[in-house]
Amino acid sequence: MMTDGTFTGRLLDWYAKHGRGLPWRGSPDPYAILVSEYMAQQTRVETVIPYYLRWMAQFPNIQALAEAPLEAVLKAWEGLGYYARARNLHQTARVIVTNHAGYIPSSVDELRALPGIGDYTAAAVASLAFGADEPALDGNLRRVLARVTALEEDPRTPKGVNRLKDTARALLPPGRAGDFNQALMDLSNQVCLPKKPRCAECPLTACCEAFKQNRQADFPVKVKKAPVPTLTVTAGVLRRGHTVLLTKRPADGLLGGLWEFPGGKQEPDETLPECLARELREELDIEVSVGNEVGVFRHAYSHFKVVLHAFECEIVSGEPRPLASDGLEWLPVSQLGEYAMGKIDRMIADKLNLIIVSIV
Ligand code: ADE
Repeated sequence: MMTDGTFTGRLLDWYAKHGRGLPWRGSPDPYAILVSEYMAQQTRVETVIPYYLRWMAQFPNIQALAEAPLEAVLKAWEGLGYYARARNLHQTARVIVTNHAGYIPSSVDELRALPGIGDYTAAAVASLAFGADEPALDGNLRRVLARVTALEEDPRTPKGVNRLKDTARALLPPGRAGDFNQALMDLSNQVCLPKKPRCAECPLTACCEAFKQNRQADFPVKVKKAPVPTLTVTAGVLRRGHTVLLTKRPADGLLGGLWEFPGGKQEPDETLPECLARELREELDIEVSVGNEVGVFRHAYSHFKVVLHAFECEIVSGEPRPLASDGLEWLPVSQLGEYAMGKIDRMIADKLNLIIVSIV
């Protein structure tokens, strides 16, 4: 379908030829869109696809998700990161069943009121699932539109966002917002790349101010962010027979509801073993002697980096009590794979399994 020579016409023609065949595209089921949008917050679509397919097989509709235990939901999410999204999606399913008779609401305002849904996701679900005329501006779309308009504001500031929303509303073809938004998503992913935009392949160069001025690298303008801090953390591997001790993180907060090896942040002026002994005293009411280092594990979260030192520990006195967690379990190392964990704790668990496999 050839539309016209305008920005929107060129964009939709390009999308008809080059749009990606994603498994939730063209689905008439708003639940499919809802799941894909929760997963795609902060995560690349290529990474999302296998998780999405497994998820839809395991929780095929809102009802099934609402009835599933949180533990199963977190396990299905494991590896995607930002676990608050999984807890929020689960909670959203329960709210929809309880307050909306099982039907996903179609208006931006009602969607926005659900757990974990911000401006972008509300607009994406409303436009993709229900055909609402709403621009869905995530960081990628903001990059494209900031280049097209040579926006001199940082598009992450309220002023910048509002400018780009006005731009998108003016360009949006009534009745086709879903295609418009997804065309821009695909263009941002395949052509208008953050570092090396492929302008030779772009259908929009004739409408792009940054291209005309040969200043693609100047946009989007960035206000400098403070560098992210690095936290040094310890964790203990406590053994009883062939089992090890895991604690469950409190439901609210970072990595809430996930299982972990107990430990915590190093304070100034304490050694790593002193840190671990203190944390286990405070959190489990036990005295330990800290033994060999199991390994050093690194992971970058959005707002900080973690360097975690794991040590074998022996209990010298006391019986562990979950003073700072939602529970504890002594688990066979071979069963650790069944418990939902964050990236770093999974690395420790994998290393313990590797050690066992290489001994056997
Ligand atoms: N990112 C988030 N949702 C998307 C979609 N529907 N298509 C492509 N990229 C996306």
